[in-house]
Amino acid sequence: MNTLTNIIDGKLISQQIQGEIAIEVMSLIAQGHKKPHLAAILVGNDGASETYVGAKVKACDRVGFDSTLVRLPATTTEIDLLIKINELNADKSIDGFIVQLPLPKHINEHIIMQAIAPEKDVDGFHPQNVGRMALNLPTYLPATPYGIIQLLKRYSIETTGKHCVVLGRSHIVGSPISILMARSSSTIGNCTVTLCHSRTKNLKEHTLKADILIVALGKPEFVTADMVKDGVIVIDVGITRVPSDKTKTGFKLLGDVNYAQVAPKAAFITPVPGGVGPMTIASLLRNTLKSSKKEVYKLT
Ligand code: GUN
Repeated sequence: MNTLTNIIDGKLISQQIQGEIAIEVMSLIAQGHKKPHLAAILVGNDGASETYVGAKVKACDRVGFDSTLVRLPATTTEIDLLIKINELNADKSIDGFIVQLPLPKHINEHIIMQAIAPEKDVDGFHPQNVGRMALNLPTYLPATPYGIIQLLKRYSIETTGKHCVVLGRSHIVGSPISILMARSSSTIGNCTVTLCHSRTKNLKEHTLKADILIVALGKPEFVTADMVKDGVIVIDVGITRVPSDKTKTGFKLLGDVNYAQVAPKAAFITPVPGGVGPMTIASLLRNTLKSSKKEVYKLT
């Protein structure tokens, strides 16, 4: 039992970062710079995607960015989406844009990601930006891994030499965060990383060795107390809606970690909601600001 559990407050850190961005925007505008401008393409009307994109657009308003939401019907063809992407690539008023995932099944996500101009790919999903991340070159880091790095940094968590175990190998979270935690860095990184996934054998043997456990599986309350050691640092990326008769909305949000069981053993833990989730928006805004200042691609 670890009686000194620290809750990592992602909502608070996200607000702090958004406050810092808002101040930077005011100073840019005072110097005659135009407002940073983020665009988002939403194809179809998936409920969760509507919520996420709506939150991204609202956040733009809060920090003084311009935003454009491009809504396309679920029946949009791959070609029509590619035409829209080319328009945004060529539009000088737009600093960066995202195509909200998941896309309807008839559209190939890889083709779409490759069509986005790398210098406007503020999601960091284009193969060129993924490669730059892997090579430790200046780039846009994908929003969730970037948010995790910021949380560890702002809570002054020492990562060098630690054993980081990542559960899940998605392109959006598990794979990139495993690279970022292992890479050479003067701040967050320098870990020995174990990346576990659905084919991993004896999973508990690995999780029990984790100093830092990052869970991105989308399986509610998968990690239980018997799977972690005392003093572990837990980053829970999962966020699943499950039915609940105790809330007005009729559902509640659960992480991939059984919080009630694991928190008493943890030195630090992110709650769900209010942990990693709010950080993704702060990361996207930070990337858009970098793009508007031409900070990423001028260097190499
Ligand atoms: N769907 C879930 N997470 C993300 C994200 O970070 N970016 C985009 N574009 N779609 C998502």
